[in-house]
Amino acid sequence: MEPVTVKGISKCFGTITAVEPLTFSIRKGEVLGLIGENGAGKTTTMRMMATILKPSTGEIRINGYCVQKEAMAVRTQIGILFGGDVGMYNRLTARENIAFFGTLYGLAGMELNKRIDDLADMLEMGAFIDRRVGPFSRGMKQKVAIARTLVHDPQVILLDEPTTGLDVSAAVIFRQLITTMRQAGKTILFSSHNMGEIEKLCDRVAIMHKGKLLFHGTIPALRAKSSIHDLDDLFVHLVTGGKPIE
Ligand SMILES: Nc1ncnc2c1ncn2[C@@H]1O[C@H](COP(=O)(O)OP(=O)(O)OP(=O)(O)O)[C@@H](O)[C@H]1O
Ligand SMILES: [Mg+2]
Repeated sequence: MEPVTVKGISKCFGTITAVEPLTFSIRKGEVLGLIGENGAGKTTTMRMMATILKPSTGEIRINGYCVQKEAMAVRTQIGILFGGDVGMYNRLTARENIAFFGTLYGLAGMELNKRIDDLADMLEMGAFIDRRVGPFSRGMKQKVAIARTLVHDPQVILLDEPTTGLDVSAAVIFRQLITTMRQAGKTILFSSHNMGEIEKLCDRVAIMHKGKLLFHGTIPALRAKSSIHDLDDLFVHLVTGGKPIE
């Protein structure tokens, strides 16, 4: 069974249907890119996968565990990062913030410190890992948030707009990290509004529009659907046409 399977999940908020019944899967060692306009339902979908929101219908399984019925087990399997303002303890250092999350997953002592040092190396945070996060720039905080997401070395990684706020070099570092994790056999879902980044990083993409899945497949398969070369233009063409494509 694939590490992530989403079958017919939907979400209604009162009379608003944020996500229509949606089915897709993610393989081991795969990076799936989730794209769609503002309000398409990406964050809502990821929140359901992360056990934060209860789906109105359908079933999600993460490494075989049912998100609805085995939420605690699912939480040990996943690392999650949500977009927007990342909540952090401003009076604590970056290391302490990351360590706090690590302890929630049962990590401690040398093992935890080593893991934080490795992440700080990978994300080039060495210069500020032991400084208080209060005055950090947005990108520095985003790096801390990414490290916090990965501290327990999760098998399945859900990242909602992880590169928002990162500068060009930080985005490159982030891409290297994703590539390393993919090679280590992790299963990764990430949302982005940057089509160039999606093309560089993702094995397959899922395009959502108004709560529906318009496309799930490789970028070459997406490109084969139209003669439009520019991916941004192709995306707009697809969502304004509104018709599902195979
Ligand atoms: N808690 C909530 N209560 C009511 N409506 C909600 C709630 N959360 C999300 N929605 C609605 O669900 C729809 C999908 O929102 P969602 O945040 O999933 O979109 P998104 O694809 O992540 O957009 P963006 O690219 O702007 O982050 C929107 O219409 C939003 O207003
Ligand atoms: Mg969102």
